[in-house]
Amino acid sequence: MKYWSWWLLVPALLCGCEQPDMADQPRLETYETGAAFNDGLAARPVPEGTVARDQRPAATENPLPINAETLAHGREQFDVFCAPCHGRNGRGQGVIVQRGFPAPPSLHRPRLRRAADRHFYQVIRDGHGAMYAYASRVPEDQRWAIIAYIRSLQLSRNARLEDVPRDHRPLPDTGEAPP
Ligand code: HEC
Repeated sequence: MKYWSWWLLVPALLCGCEQPDMADQPRLETYETGAAFNDGLAARPVPEGTVARDQRPAATENPLPINAETLAHGREQFDVFCAPCHGRNGRGQGVIVQRGFPAPPSLHRPRLRRAADRHFYQVIRDGHGAMYAYASRVPEDQRWAIIAYIRSLQLSRNARLEDVPRDHRPLPDTGEAPP
């Protein structure tokens, strides 16, 4: 062999020294059989009582502290995610509705004022009729903050003067019923 022809072997030798590719190593495919475990299955059974992350049982009542901070956060999120349809006042005449989307019911309806927090939680998470689910866009804590704010919106539309602390009442307190 001519001496220069040895150089032809160099690329072949270099290929042999290539670093191992981590994606290409001995492993079991998810549903492969005849594998290392006694039951012969690569997929391991899910331990009893396991709950998927998005199936966690949600609290039935609002777990957040109901304070000005929570309400401010809820208001911000409501205005971003809900007001386009429900309107900032919750009466169901948001800008999207004004442009033809089916109108949601007013959040001040007696039925929705009586509805449990849990119902609002489920509507946000799973959607309701024409309203699509917000589970992917509104995470759990944000949902509860929005619900707290909806409660305050509802209260604001149906409050009596006695519900307002005396030093916050806009009218001079004459002791008489408001006009
Ligand atoms: C794109 C428009 C749209 C957005 C955004 C939207 N909704 Fe709705 N929502 C609707 C419509 C339409 C309905 C009525 C659905 C039906 O009855 O078919 C509805 C219904 C509801 C109801 C009433 C369910 C019942 O029991 O009748 C609640 C509560 C509600 N939405 C809460 C929310 C909250 C909270 C948000 C924000 C996270 C939100 N929605 C965002 C359109 C929207």
